[in-house]
Amino acid sequence: MIVIGGPASNNLGELIAKALNAEYVRIVHKLFPDGESYVRYPISISGEDVVIVQSTYYPQDKHLMELFLMVEAAKDLGAKRVVSVVPYLAYTRQDKRFLEGEPISIKTVLRLLWHCGSDALITVEIHKEDSLKFFPGKAVNIHAMKPLANYFKSKVMESEGIEPSDVVVLAPDKGALNRAIEFSSIVGCEHDYLEKFRDRITGEVKVKPKSLNVRDKIVVIVDDIISTGGTVALASNNVREQGARKVYAICAHALLVGNALNKLKKAGVSSIIALNTLPTPEEVEVVDASNDIAQALTTLV
Ligand code: R5P
Repeated sequence: MIVIGGPASNNLGELIAKALNAEYVRIVHKLFPDGESYVRYPISISGEDVVIVQSTYYPQDKHLMELFLMVEAAKDLGAKRVVSVVPYLAYTRQDKRFLEGEPISIKTVLRLLWHCGSDALITVEIHKEDSLKFFPGKAVNIHAMKPLANYFKSKVMESEGIEPSDVVVLAPDKGALNRAIEFSSIVGCEHDYLEKFRDRITGEVKVKPKSLNVRDKIVVIVDDIISTGGTVALASNNVREQGARKVYAICAHALLVGNALNKLKKAGVSSIIALNTLPTPEEVEVVDASNDIAQALTTLV
């Protein structure tokens, strides 16, 4: 098996190869003067099982195009099997037509990946697992709450002497409730959720007033993605107003676009913990997902 690090995921690709004890090769990559992408395999991949690691964070469309080029080229060059490892899969939140006339964007992305020749797909904490039905090949979603909760337990709770009874895990919306249940069952603490509403035109989010049992507690807000930080900031302000002692924001994919970090800080979030599915600023505490990805690969290849 050869692990290829795409332009968006060189470091993670290398860690995955190390965990598998497999050969690691960086794809050769450049941009043409007009902005088009160029990729080239610097070794022969004919007859090999090829694992392409390419996350699709901003600029999503560029990273997706690079992924499609790498997958199709691998197949054309005679790879026996191509597995795409896309730790952060873009467009997963547009998984249905919220307004008439919209595309189901994740369907388009997954069909393109399949048509380019990807035999299998591994991703991490996809927004909704059901979306994988749009990929006709074998698809695996790695759950992020387990490694994140284990990290929180061993690296935060143990070192700071925090008891499970001090902690409440909060889902900032109903969609994240299963995540909160999984996380809290590992930590052995309470969980709760808020109900969030998003205006589909303006993108503005609001939360339904709810009394939570968070006074003097350490609140851990869990989600799949922190993008603008709006969702977590709302939840954090809410629990701070209700007397929470400290707030952690924990997610799989810390996209943190624009002024998200400041927004979270202003809302009273003291720490952000995320997986290394994409590059993050130094303020984010990072949990390595490479072993979980390597493990999933051994079941596929
Ligand atoms: C939405 O359902 C997702 O799970 C996240 O809660 C959301 O995408 C986060 O976005 P933002 O950080 O922009 O509020």
